[in-house]
Amino acid sequence: MSNVEQTLSIIKPDAVERKLENEIKEIFKSKGFKIIKDKKIQIEKAEAEKFYKVHETKPFYNDLCTYLSSGPIVVMILEKENAVVGNRELMGATNPKDAKDGTIRKKYGISIDKNSVHGSDSIDNAKIEIGFFFKD
Ligand code: CMP
Repeated sequence: MSNVEQTLSIIKPDAVERKLENEIKEIFKSKGFKIIKDKKIQIEKAEAEKFYKVHETKPFYNDLCTYLSSGPIVVMILEKENAVVGNRELMGATNPKDAKDGTIRKKYGISIDKNSVHGSDSIDNAKIEIGFFFKD
């Protein structure tokens, strides 16, 4: 039975700054993800605070929101069978130090903050996050 899902992916400022946008997109495509929509934007800190609201009580929240709004990012809707889990596997652990070989964060991540990519962590959050960046 087909279980095609969509998930939201963000190429974060550290990766855009290092001109890794196309390389990372090629990794997604080579693993069977379709990029349904994508755009390069820079967001205000207030928008980053809304996006990461689930983390608002965490000690890293302020730095995280400052960071996500610090430079251009690329937001994408990715589609594939079981896209949410598949994207999280392909990204690797949040901290690049813990990420396995072959994952995007292992290859490109610099630190837990500058970990190059974000991906939705559940189907429900994928819908919310896609709606956040792609209104129509
Ligand atoms: P991301 O998947 O975008 O979701 C929240 C981000 O917070 C996470 O990636 C990390 O870049 C960042 N972050 C910073 N410190 C931590 C931490 N201690 N635990 C989890 N995430 C953290």
